[in-house]
Amino acid sequence: MKQQLERIKVTAENEMAGIQSVSELDSIRVKYMGKKGELTSVLRGMNILSKEERPIIGQLANEVRNYLEEKIEDTKKKLLDKEKIERMKKEVIDVTMPGRRRNIGKRHPLTIVLDEVKDIFLGLGFSIAEGPEIERDYYNFEALNIPKNHPARDEQDTFYIDDSVVLRTQTSPVQIRVMEKTKPPIRIISPGRVYRADTVDATHSPIFNQIEGLAVDKNITMGDLKGTLEIFLKKLFGDEIKVRFRPHHFQFTEPSAEVDVSCFICKGSGCRVCKGEGWIEIMGAGMVHPKVLANCDIDPKEYSGFAFGMGLERIVMTRFEINDLRLFYENDIRFLNQF
Ligand code: DAH
Repeated sequence: MKQQLERIKVTAENEMAGIQSVSELDSIRVKYMGKKGELTSVLRGMNILSKEERPIIGQLANEVRNYLEEKIEDTKKKLLDKEKIERMKKEVIDVTMPGRRRNIGKRHPLTIVLDEVKDIFLGLGFSIAEGPEIERDYYNFEALNIPKNHPARDEQDTFYIDDSVVLRTQTSPVQIRVMEKTKPPIRIISPGRVYRADTVDATHSPIFNQIEGLAVDKNITMGDLKGTLEIFLKKLFGDEIKVRFRPHHFQFTEPSAEVDVSCFICKGSGCRVCKGEGWIEIMGAGMVHPKVLANCDIDPKEYSGFAFGMGLERIVMTRFEINDLRLFYENDIRFLNQF
Protein backbone atom coordinates (compact mmCIF):
# COMPACT_ATOMS: atom_id res chain seq x y z
CA MET A 1 0.00 0.00 0.00
CA LYS A 2 2.89 2.26 0.78
CA GLN A 3 4.37 1.54 -2.62
CA GLN A 4 1.02 2.13 -4.21
CA LEU A 5 0.86 5.54 -2.59
CA GLU A 6 4.40 6.40 -3.71
CA ARG A 7 3.54 5.32 -7.24
CA ILE A 8 0.41 7.44 -7.28
CA LYS A 9 2.38 10.44 -6.15
CA VAL A 10 5.03 10.00 -8.84
CA THR A 11 2.75 9.18 -11.76
CA ALA A 12 0.31 11.97 -10.94
CA GLU A 13 3.17 14.41 -10.74
CA ASN A 14 4.60 13.21 -14.06
CA GLU A 15 1.26 13.46 -15.77
CA MET A 16 0.81 17.01 -14.51
CA ALA A 17 4.17 18.06 -15.86
CA GLY A 18 3.19 17.39 -19.44
CA ILE A 19 -0.22 19.06 -19.68
CA GLN A 20 -1.25 22.24 -21.51
CA SER A 21 -4.71 23.12 -20.27
CA VAL A 22 -6.84 23.48 -17.18
CA SER A 23 -9.29 20.92 -18.47
CA GLU A 24 -6.53 18.28 -18.74
CA LEU A 25 -5.53 19.12 -15.18
CA ASP A 26 -9.09 18.59 -14.09
CA SER A 27 -9.19 15.09 -15.52
CA ILE A 28 -5.99 14.26 -13.63
CA ARG A 29 -7.60 15.49 -10.42
CA VAL A 30 -10.63 13.30 -11.04
CA LYS A 31 -8.45 10.33 -11.95
CA TYR A 32 -6.60 10.37 -8.62
CA MET A 33 -8.63 12.33 -6.13
CA GLY A 34 -12.19 12.04 -7.45
CA LYS A 35 -14.84 9.84 -5.81
CA LYS A 36 -13.61 6.84 -7.79
CA GLY A 37 -10.01 8.13 -7.97
CA GLU A 38 -6.97 5.96 -7.33
CA LEU A 39 -5.95 7.73 -4.15
CA THR A 40 -9.50 7.71 -2.87
CA SER A 41 -9.78 3.96 -3.32
CA VAL A 42 -6.50 3.43 -1.46
CA LEU A 43 -7.89 5.42 1.45
CA ARG A 44 -11.08 3.38 1.32
CA GLY A 45 -9.11 0.13 1.43
CA MET A 46 -7.43 1.06 4.70
CA ASN A 47 -9.92 -0.89 6.83
CA ILE A 48 -8.13 -4.11 5.94
CA LEU A 49 -4.97 -2.84 7.59
CA SER A 50 -3.88 -3.72 11.10
CA LYS A 51 -4.16 -1.27 13.98
CA GLU A 52 -0.41 -0.60 13.85
CA GLU A 53 -0.21 -0.08 10.12
CA ARG A 54 -3.28 2.13 9.83
CA PRO A 55 -1.89 5.38 11.33
CA ILE A 56 1.34 5.09 9.37
CA ILE A 57 -0.33 4.49 6.04
CA GLY A 58 -3.02 7.02 6.95
CA GLN A 59 -0.43 9.68 7.54
CA LEU A 60 1.37 8.85 4.34
CA ALA A 61 -1.88 8.92 2.40
CA ASN A 62 -2.73 12.30 3.85
CA GLU A 63 0.70 13.60 2.93
CA VAL A 64 0.32 12.38 -0.62
CA ARG A 65 -3.13 13.91 -0.86
CA ASN A 66 -2.01 17.27 0.51
CA TYR A 67 1.01 17.22 -1.70
CA LEU A 68 -1.02 16.48 -4.82
CA GLU A 69 -3.66 19.03 -3.91
CA GLU A 70 -1.05 21.70 -3.57
CA LYS A 71 0.58 20.61 -6.77
CA ILE A 72 -2.73 20.78 -8.60
CA GLU A 73 -3.46 24.28 -7.32
CA ASP A 74 -0.01 25.38 -8.32
CA THR A 75 -0.20 23.91 -11.80
CA LYS A 76 -3.64 25.40 -12.26
CA LYS A 77 -2.36 28.88 -11.47
CA LYS A 78 0.51 28.54 -13.89
CA LEU A 79 -1.75 27.24 -16.64
CA LEU A 80 -4.25 30.07 -16.14
CA ASP A 81 -1.47 32.66 -16.30
CA LYS A 82 -0.14 31.09 -19.46
CA GLU A 83 -3.57 30.99 -21.07
CA LYS A 84 -4.15 34.62 -20.15
CA ILE A 85 -0.88 35.75 -21.71
CA GLU A 86 -1.65 33.85 -24.89
CA ARG A 87 -5.14 35.24 -25.08
CA MET A 88 -3.85 38.76 -24.63
CA LYS A 89 -1.30 38.22 -27.36
CA LYS A 90 -4.07 37.15 -29.71
CA GLU A 91 -6.40 39.96 -28.74
CA VAL A 92 -3.83 42.71 -28.99
CA ILE A 93 -5.12 45.74 -30.94
CA ASP A 94 -2.80 47.35 -33.44
CA VAL A 95 -3.76 50.99 -33.09
CA THR A 96 -1.55 51.94 -36.06
CA MET A 97 -3.63 49.82 -38.47
CA PRO A 98 -5.58 51.90 -41.02
CA GLY A 99 -9.35 51.99 -40.46
CA ARG A 100 -11.78 50.14 -42.64
CA ARG A 101 -13.42 52.59 -45.02
CA ARG A 102 -17.19 52.54 -45.07
CA ASN A 103 -18.65 53.15 -48.49
CA ILE A 104 -21.38 55.68 -48.03
CA GLY A 105 -23.66 56.40 -50.96
CA LYS A 106 -23.45 59.77 -52.66
CA ARG A 107 -25.70 61.90 -54.76
CA HIS A 108 -25.10 61.59 -58.50
CA PRO A 109 -23.62 64.78 -60.04
CA LEU A 110 -26.80 65.23 -62.10
CA THR A 111 -28.83 65.08 -58.88
CA ILE A 112 -26.52 67.50 -57.07
CA VAL A 113 -27.02 70.18 -59.72
CA LEU A 114 -30.71 69.41 -60.25
CA ASP A 115 -31.29 69.86 -56.52
CA GLU A 116 -29.58 73.26 -56.72
CA VAL A 117 -31.68 74.28 -59.71
CA LYS A 118 -34.86 73.25 -57.91
CA ASP A 119 -33.81 75.18 -54.79
CA ILE A 120 -33.19 78.35 -56.77
CA PHE A 121 -36.54 78.23 -58.57
CA LEU A 122 -38.48 77.24 -55.47
CA GLY A 123 -36.93 80.34 -53.88
CA LEU A 124 -38.28 82.41 -56.78
CA GLY A 125 -41.82 81.17 -56.20
CA PHE A 126 -41.89 78.39 -58.81
CA SER A 127 -43.22 74.94 -58.06
CA ILE A 128 -42.33 71.61 -59.61
CA ALA A 129 -44.53 69.91 -62.19
CA GLU A 130 -44.24 66.50 -63.78
CA GLY A 131 -45.41 64.91 -66.99
CA PRO A 132 -45.27 61.48 -68.63
CA GLU A 133 -42.23 60.25 -70.55
CA ILE A 134 -44.49 58.31 -72.91
CA GLU A 135 -46.35 61.23 -74.43
CA ARG A 136 -48.99 61.92 -77.00
CA ASP A 137 -47.79 63.46 -80.25
CA TYR A 138 -50.31 66.19 -79.55
CA TYR A 139 -48.53 67.39 -76.38
CA ASN A 140 -45.00 66.81 -77.59
CA PHE A 141 -45.51 68.56 -80.92
CA GLU A 142 -48.88 69.76 -82.08
CA ALA A 143 -50.00 71.80 -79.10
CA LEU A 144 -46.53 73.35 -79.12
CA ASN A 145 -47.19 74.69 -82.61
CA ILE A 146 -45.22 71.96 -84.38
CA PRO A 147 -47.79 70.48 -86.78
CA LYS A 148 -47.40 67.15 -88.58
CA ASN A 149 -44.90 67.31 -91.45
CA HIS A 150 -43.45 70.57 -90.14
CA PRO A 151 -39.66 70.71 -90.74
CA ALA A 152 -39.12 71.60 -87.06
CA ARG A 153 -39.88 67.96 -86.27
CA ASP A 154 -36.72 66.90 -88.09
CA GLU A 155 -34.59 68.64 -85.46
CA GLN A 156 -35.69 66.09 -82.89
CA ASP A 157 -35.24 62.50 -84.01
CA THR A 158 -38.25 60.96 -82.41
CA PHE A 159 -38.90 57.47 -81.06
CA TYR A 160 -42.47 56.74 -82.16
CA ILE A 161 -44.49 54.18 -80.26
CA ASP A 162 -47.33 54.47 -82.74
CA ASP A 163 -48.77 57.22 -84.96
CA SER A 164 -49.93 59.31 -82.06
CA VAL A 165 -47.67 58.30 -79.16
CA VAL A 166 -43.97 59.10 -78.76
CA LEU A 167 -41.22 59.04 -76.17
CA ARG A 168 -41.17 62.73 -75.37
CA THR A 169 -38.29 64.52 -77.11
CA GLN A 170 -38.45 67.51 -74.76
CA THR A 171 -39.98 68.54 -71.45
CA SER A 172 -42.00 71.28 -73.19
CA PRO A 173 -45.18 69.11 -73.33
CA VAL A 174 -45.43 69.57 -69.57
CA GLN A 175 -46.14 73.27 -70.30
CA ILE A 176 -49.27 72.25 -72.18
CA ARG A 177 -50.41 69.78 -69.52
CA VAL A 178 -49.98 72.38 -66.79
CA MET A 179 -51.75 75.15 -68.75
CA GLU A 180 -54.65 72.84 -69.58
CA LYS A 181 -55.21 72.10 -65.90
CA THR A 182 -54.19 75.33 -64.17
CA LYS A 183 -55.29 78.85 -64.85
CA PRO A 184 -52.76 81.70 -64.45
CA PRO A 185 -50.83 82.79 -62.49
CA ILE A 186 -48.56 79.85 -63.32
CA ARG A 187 -44.95 79.47 -62.31
CA ILE A 188 -43.47 75.98 -62.72
CA ILE A 189 -40.30 74.17 -63.59
CA SER A 190 -40.38 70.61 -64.82
CA PRO A 191 -37.28 68.46 -64.77
CA GLY A 192 -37.32 65.06 -66.44
CA ARG A 193 -35.98 62.51 -68.87
CA VAL A 194 -36.33 62.99 -72.61
CA TYR A 195 -35.58 60.70 -75.54
CA ARG A 196 -34.09 61.20 -78.98
CA ALA A 197 -32.93 58.69 -81.56
CA ASP A 198 -29.33 59.84 -81.37
CA THR A 199 -26.23 57.69 -81.53
CA VAL A 200 -24.22 57.65 -78.33
CA ASP A 201 -21.04 59.71 -78.31
CA ALA A 202 -19.27 62.15 -75.98
CA THR A 203 -22.06 64.73 -76.31
CA HIS A 204 -25.10 62.68 -77.33
CA SER A 205 -27.26 60.14 -75.59
CA PRO A 206 -30.67 58.76 -76.61
CA ILE A 207 -31.82 59.46 -73.04
CA PHE A 208 -30.97 62.71 -71.29
CA ASN A 209 -32.52 65.23 -68.94
CA GLN A 210 -34.09 68.60 -69.49
CA ILE A 211 -35.49 71.24 -67.19
CA GLU A 212 -38.44 73.19 -68.49
CA GLY A 213 -39.66 76.48 -67.07
CA LEU A 214 -42.95 78.34 -67.55
CA ALA A 215 -44.46 81.52 -66.13
CA VAL A 216 -47.88 82.79 -67.26
CA ASP A 217 -49.69 85.79 -65.84
CA LYS A 218 -51.03 89.21 -66.79
CA ASN A 219 -48.34 91.58 -68.10
CA ILE A 220 -45.46 89.13 -68.19
CA THR A 221 -42.75 90.60 -70.40
CA MET A 222 -39.42 89.70 -71.91
CA GLY A 223 -37.94 91.77 -69.07
CA ASP A 224 -39.33 89.26 -66.55
CA LEU A 225 -37.76 86.43 -68.54
CA LYS A 226 -34.37 88.15 -68.64
CA GLY A 227 -34.47 89.08 -64.97
CA THR A 228 -35.53 85.61 -63.83
CA LEU A 229 -32.90 83.82 -65.91
CA GLU A 230 -30.18 86.24 -64.90
CA ILE A 231 -30.89 85.65 -61.22
CA PHE A 232 -31.03 81.91 -61.78
CA LEU A 233 -27.81 81.70 -63.80
CA LYS A 234 -25.85 83.90 -61.40
CA LYS A 235 -26.95 81.76 -58.47
CA LEU A 236 -25.93 78.64 -60.36
CA PHE A 237 -22.64 79.76 -61.92
CA GLY A 238 -21.55 82.66 -59.71
CA ASP A 239 -22.28 86.39 -59.46
CA GLU A 240 -19.43 87.41 -61.73
CA ILE A 241 -20.81 85.73 -64.88
CA LYS A 242 -22.50 87.69 -67.64
CA VAL A 243 -25.67 86.57 -69.40
CA ARG A 244 -26.57 87.31 -73.01
CA PHE A 245 -29.62 86.60 -75.15
CA ARG A 246 -29.18 85.78 -78.83
CA PRO A 247 -32.16 85.83 -81.22
CA HIS A 248 -33.24 82.33 -82.19
CA HIS A 249 -36.28 80.43 -83.38
CA PHE A 250 -38.53 78.01 -81.57
CA GLN A 251 -42.00 77.09 -82.75
CA PHE A 252 -43.59 77.57 -79.36
CA THR A 253 -42.12 80.97 -78.41
CA GLU A 254 -42.21 84.37 -80.08
CA PRO A 255 -39.80 86.05 -79.81
CA SER A 256 -37.30 83.30 -79.07
CA ALA A 257 -33.74 83.43 -77.83
CA GLU A 258 -30.82 81.28 -76.93
CA VAL A 259 -29.18 82.18 -73.65
CA ASP A 260 -25.41 82.17 -73.12
CA VAL A 261 -23.32 82.69 -70.01
CA SER A 262 -19.80 84.11 -70.12
CA CYS A 263 -17.32 81.28 -69.61
CA PHE A 264 -16.71 80.98 -65.88
CA ILE A 265 -13.37 79.27 -66.48
CA CYS A 266 -11.64 81.86 -68.68
CA LYS A 267 -13.97 84.73 -67.79
CA GLY A 268 -14.69 85.31 -71.46
CA SER A 269 -11.22 85.33 -73.02
CA GLY A 270 -11.65 81.91 -74.66
CA CYS A 271 -10.57 78.47 -73.45
CA ARG A 272 -11.11 74.75 -73.91
CA VAL A 273 -14.39 74.65 -71.96
CA CYS A 274 -16.03 77.38 -74.09
CA LYS A 275 -14.17 76.22 -77.22
CA GLY A 276 -12.52 79.63 -77.58
CA GLU A 277 -15.88 81.43 -77.73
CA GLY A 278 -15.82 83.08 -74.31
CA TRP A 279 -19.54 82.16 -74.06
CA ILE A 280 -21.34 78.93 -73.26
CA GLU A 281 -24.82 78.26 -74.61
CA ILE A 282 -27.03 77.19 -71.74
CA MET A 283 -30.67 77.18 -72.82
CA GLY A 284 -33.48 78.13 -75.15
CA ALA A 285 -36.16 80.57 -74.06
CA GLY A 286 -38.82 82.99 -75.25
CA MET A 287 -42.26 84.46 -74.83
CA VAL A 288 -44.93 81.76 -75.02
CA HIS A 289 -46.44 81.83 -78.53
CA PRO A 290 -50.04 83.19 -78.54
CA LYS A 291 -51.16 80.06 -80.40
CA VAL A 292 -49.76 77.86 -77.63
CA LEU A 293 -51.68 79.83 -74.98
CA ALA A 294 -54.82 79.60 -77.08
CA ASN A 295 -54.36 75.82 -77.48
CA CYS A 296 -54.70 75.61 -73.70
CA ASP A 297 -57.71 77.92 -73.51
CA ILE A 298 -55.72 80.78 -72.07
CA ASP A 299 -56.62 84.06 -73.74
CA PRO A 300 -53.44 85.56 -75.26
CA LYS A 301 -55.03 89.01 -75.18
CA GLU A 302 -55.32 88.82 -71.43
CA TYR A 303 -52.30 86.76 -70.52
CA SER A 304 -48.70 86.39 -71.59
CA GLY A 305 -45.93 84.14 -70.47
CA PHE A 306 -42.30 83.19 -70.79
CA ALA A 307 -40.76 79.73 -71.12
CA PHE A 308 -37.32 78.23 -71.14
CA GLY A 309 -35.72 74.83 -71.49
CA MET A 310 -32.23 73.57 -70.75
CA GLY A 311 -30.29 70.33 -70.86
CA LEU A 312 -29.23 69.20 -67.41
CA GLU A 313 -26.25 67.12 -68.57
CA ARG A 314 -24.87 70.05 -70.47
CA ILE A 315 -25.03 72.31 -67.44
CA VAL A 316 -23.38 69.74 -65.21
CA MET A 317 -20.69 69.11 -67.83
CA THR A 318 -19.75 72.79 -68.05
CA ARG A 319 -20.01 73.28 -64.33
CA PHE A 320 -17.68 70.38 -63.42
CA GLU A 321 -15.63 70.41 -66.66
CA ILE A 322 -16.71 66.92 -67.65
CA ASN A 323 -15.86 66.16 -71.27
CA ASP A 324 -17.83 62.98 -71.88
CA LEU A 325 -21.54 62.63 -71.26
CA ARG A 326 -21.33 58.83 -71.07
CA LEU A 327 -19.63 59.14 -67.66
CA PHE A 328 -23.00 60.10 -66.19
CA TYR A 329 -24.59 56.79 -67.06
CA GLU A 330 -21.78 54.28 -66.54
CA ASN A 331 -21.92 54.50 -62.74
CA ASP A 332 -18.19 54.05 -62.38
CA ILE A 333 -17.52 54.57 -58.67
CA ARG A 334 -14.17 56.24 -59.44
CA PHE A 335 -16.06 58.94 -61.35
CA LEU A 336 -18.98 59.28 -58.96
CA ASN A 337 -16.74 59.53 -55.89
CA GLN A 338 -15.34 62.82 -57.14
CA PHE A 339 -18.50 64.77 -56.33
N1 DAH B 1 -37.73 72.29 -75.92
C1 DAH B 1 -36.56 72.92 -76.46
C2 DAH B 1 -35.58 71.86 -76.91
O1 DAH B 1 -35.72 70.75 -76.58
C3 DAH B 1 -35.93 73.82 -75.44
C4 DAH B 1 -36.76 75.03 -75.20
C5 DAH B 1 -36.56 76.20 -75.89
C6 DAH B 1 -37.76 75.02 -74.25
C7 DAH B 1 -37.31 77.33 -75.69
C8 DAH B 1 -38.55 76.15 -74.02
C9 DAH B 1 -38.30 77.31 -74.76
O2 DAH B 1 -39.49 76.18 -73.13
O3 DAH B 1 -39.04 78.40 -74.52
O4 DAH B 1 -34.61 72.20 -77.59
